Amino acid sequence: MLNFKEEVVEIINSKIEELEEKEIRKLIEVPPSYDMGDFAFPVFSLAKIFRKAPPQIAEDLVGSFGDNEYFEKIEAKGAYINFFVDKEKLIESTLEEIKDKKDRYGSSDIGEGKKVIVEFSSPNIAKPFHIGHIRTTVIGNSLYKIFTFLGFDTVSINHLGDYGTQFGMLISAFKKWGDREVIEKDPINELLKLYVRFNKEAEEDEDLKDEARYWFRELENKNEEALELWKWIREISLNEFNRVYDLLNIEFDSYAGESFYSDKMPAVIDELNEKKLLEESEGAYLVDLEEYDMPPALIMKKDGSTLYTTRDIAAAFYRKEKYDFYKNIYVVASQQNLHFKAWIKIVELMGHEWAKDCIHIPFGMVSLEDGTLSTRRGRVVYLEDVLNKAIDNTRKIIEDRNPDLENKEEVAKQVGIGAVIFQELFNQRIKDYVFSWDRTLSFEGETGPYVQYTHARINSLLERGNFDLDEEVDYKLLKTEEEINIARLLYEFPRTVIDSMEKYEPFFVTRHIVEIAQAFNRFYNSTTINTEDKELKKARLTLAFTVKTVIKTGLSLLGMEAPERM
Ligand code: ARG
Repeated sequence: MLNFKEEVVEIINSKIEELEEKEIRKLIEVPPSYDMGDFAFPVFSLAKIFRKAPPQIAEDLVGSFGDNEYFEKIEAKGAYINFFVDKEKLIESTLEEIKDKKDRYGSSDIGEGKKVIVEFSSPNIAKPFHIGHIRTTVIGNSLYKIFTFLGFDTVSINHLGDYGTQFGMLISAFKKWGDREVIEKDPINELLKLYVRFNKEAEEDEDLKDEARYWFRELENKNEEALELWKWIREISLNEFNRVYDLLNIEFDSYAGESFYSDKMPAVIDELNEKKLLEESEGAYLVDLEEYDMPPALIMKKDGSTLYTTRDIAAAFYRKEKYDFYKNIYVVASQQNLHFKAWIKIVELMGHEWAKDCIHIPFGMVSLEDGTLSTRRGRVVYLEDVLNKAIDNTRKIIEDRNPDLENKEEVAKQVGIGAVIFQELFNQRIKDYVFSWDRTLSFEGETGPYVQYTHARINSLLERGNFDLDEEVDYKLLKTEEEINIARLLYEFPRTVIDSMEKYEPFFVTRHIVEIAQAFNRFYNSTTINTEDKELKKARLTLAFTVKTVIKTGLSLLGMEAPERM
């Protein structure tokens, strides 16, 4: 495909030996509006070289360029040189490329041979999988897809919270009051009840606390009874979580959770010891991080049991060994910023330069319109319920608007779930946001259903027009402002995917496909696409086809489906 920016680099480079290509590339800007050109090159920095006023430099340079087939106009404006791309070339090269690559348009091999781990979701066993978990799950899944699309060798890991002292409590509680049959009917709620009751009674009863500690230690020592109970709790919890992953169409390459590292921690503690990083404090062991403005990180408790931090360090070591990652990414809420900063620092202090490749990708909080979420106050909103409600609401809307639609159930699922995912990925991840049903399920404006609907609309347009991909197209026929705008956005799609990867921000893709859908609908409303003029119709349908293709790819990178009809 043509790369207009590189053409600009080349033109400038051929006239100014003093600047390196790299520097030129960095200086090139995109003007605020298209009537100022597609690219602009500021000449301020050349004043020293040419010893002339910038406007004069711009003028002289433009005069020296001569004609160029990629740009219909190159003009000097003040201290800038503005480049206007040749629209015909833009349209032809972009559309041909999409026709050729189809759902691989925008993909690349820049990640070839590089292993990237994306750790995401990671809920805690025996606890509700609630709306608060949606962010890590959806953002992580999208990043995983984006990295994969760009040729990286990706691994998705669900670092299940399946270990820790709370399992001592659960085992004790189960032994006292538990009933397998009752629990299996409604695992998470029943386990949560046990957990809450245990905590409450333990407030007044030191013995209970000791008991819980005892059972956690037994678990670490691989006591058969403890191990069996723990396995069972893990399994029934995971069955519950899998219903959510099925709805979202998410699978993980690995479910190695915290427990997986239980036998890998002694080596970490030994190494910390050897490197003189461990300090004793009242029988417990910690790493002092005062120098780095962080509180001390607890590595081992007085009773010998290990902690969340220890397990994360052990997990990072294991991953380096097993995967030899290029990047090891953690999609985890910003509440855990300090935790990640601390343990990654510790790995660095241990002398492992790959610590810098462990990257925490934080995100802000999600709350509901009627207040924040809190597990402790018992006002938990289950993620599964949210997803099912979205499907129900969508089913009603379809019943209302398009009752004859085939496979309504499947479409209701694709659109309902898609709506939730889309809203989730619409903003910069670090922003807190309030979940809104109205916004999520709207078929208007910047929503998932709107984009999916545009995709389905194009599909029926192509069917009605008997679109044939293999026919020759006269691209010169596409020249209205609406058509050119669409081509520009399609041209920029591959760059957007790379931006998303580099900044770990799926929302660039989300916004971009909304813009494409909006540009298409402007075109749709102002133009007769299936016109009498056969050549013109072919050209316009080709444009529509390329829009449909790119929207579908964009949606898939977000983890969404693109129904053909809705
Ligand atoms: N299970 C933890 C929680 O729900 C998240 C785990 C994040 N990942 C990690 N490697 N620490 O808060």
